[in-house]
Amino acid sequence: TISTIQAMEILDSRGNPTVRVFVELSDGTASVASVPSGASTGENEAIELRDGDMTRYAGKGVLKAVANVNHKLAPVLLGMDPFKQALIDHTMIALDGTVNKSNLGANAILGISMAVARAAAKSANTPLYQYLGGTGARRLVVPCMNIINGGEHSDNNVDFQEFMAVPLGAPNFREGLRYVAETFHVLKGILKDRGLATSVGDEGGFAPNLNSNEDAIETIIQAIEKAGYKPGIDIAIALDSAANSFSTDMCNNYDLKWSGTGAMKSNDLINLAEEWVKKYPIVLWEDPLAERDLDGFKQFTARLGDKIEVVGDDLFVTNTQYISRGIAHKEANSALIKLNQIGTVTESIEAVRMCRDAGWRYFISHRSGETEDTFLADFAVAMDGGHLKSGSASRSERVAKYNRLLEIEQQLGEDALYYWK
Ligand code: PGA
Ligand code: ZN
Repeated sequence: TISTIQAMEILDSRGNPTVRVFVELSDGTASVASVPSGASTGENEAIELRDGDMTRYAGKGVLKAVANVNHKLAPVLLGMDPFKQALIDHTMIALDGTVNKSNLGANAILGISMAVARAAAKSANTPLYQYLGGTGARRLVVPCMNIINGGEHSDNNVDFQEFMAVPLGAPNFREGLRYVAETFHVLKGILKDRGLATSVGDEGGFAPNLNSNEDAIETIIQAIEKAGYKPGIDIAIALDSAANSFSTDMCNNYDLKWSGTGAMKSNDLINLAEEWVKKYPIVLWEDPLAERDLDGFKQFTARLGDKIEVVGDDLFVTNTQYISRGIAHKEANSALIKLNQIGTVTESIEAVRMCRDAGWRYFISHRSGETEDTFLADFAVAMDGGHLKSGSASRSERVAKYNRLLEIEQQLGEDALYYWK
């Protein structure tokens, strides 16, 4: 049974406070888990409880969430069976009593949820990826590496948030990671030669001022070739527009900095996307439109959904309520999965299951604010979705997840699988 639950305030990769939870079981097994935090958040995400006390961390302290773990959640959960993950998560959801976990905080609840899962796996002497995914969990994930950062993750002029290199032609995970890490290094040289900045954004990708969003893609393709790989065969491209951040009304009005054309409608963006998908080896496009632009998403998916993976992030916020709407109306064909958007391990697994049942893909993701916690790597293998995004080959909070995946691949040995579709 669970004998100790204790939270503390730590810092994330942006230097903002976040929650860490320590759990101990009566058999002596101990574990910790740390909660990530996003910057370009969807309107319907579960609520990250922050103190609002302006004398500490500009109001971003999480001492209230820590106190909720220690004084409100722990007393109810102590003595419970750590192997009953769904019961524990549903007990916390009921105790919170709101639809978006705004009472006790999704950061408080998720910290416990992750730490309990990890303690149970350890106590059962099972790797976390197999504890959560079953003994059949043996498929590694294609690392979609975000090598150019824009949008709200950097201060450059690039509107689209993420430009990812996708090593779908590699024979295994460690080779895939090498393909894109080498591309990252070659890209640095190309940017340097052009006299551009090689400093990195929040997710470890370069954040130069470029001529256009298209310039970012063309420069990445150049880097792929120069690194000795074939664009589209060895390494493809994935994009996250995070279109909320350049929409003026969260619906079908947009304003791109680089375009010079001023206002754009969703149809203009869809036409542009169609052109790019013809021209470039793009295999996945996340949040191409803003979260309330449901008609835009339907149009986008109708026109491109048979060619690429269309992922809803801010659109669905890992919530089965919105994913089911999306499935019914064909708003996309894939959902991004972020544990802290919904706030428990159990609900994240339910979101994955809903996607799987509908024949959708699902894309496991870190947040722009991360910690050294590698839960995500095990979770991605457990969910068997075939791909994950964890930023670039720089910044240890990003690389920690990739290193854990290397470890899992090594543990699995010949049993390990790796493929895109
Ligand atoms: P966030 O960005 O963690 O800042 O929300 C990640 C994403 O939009 O996919
Ligand atoms: Zn996104």
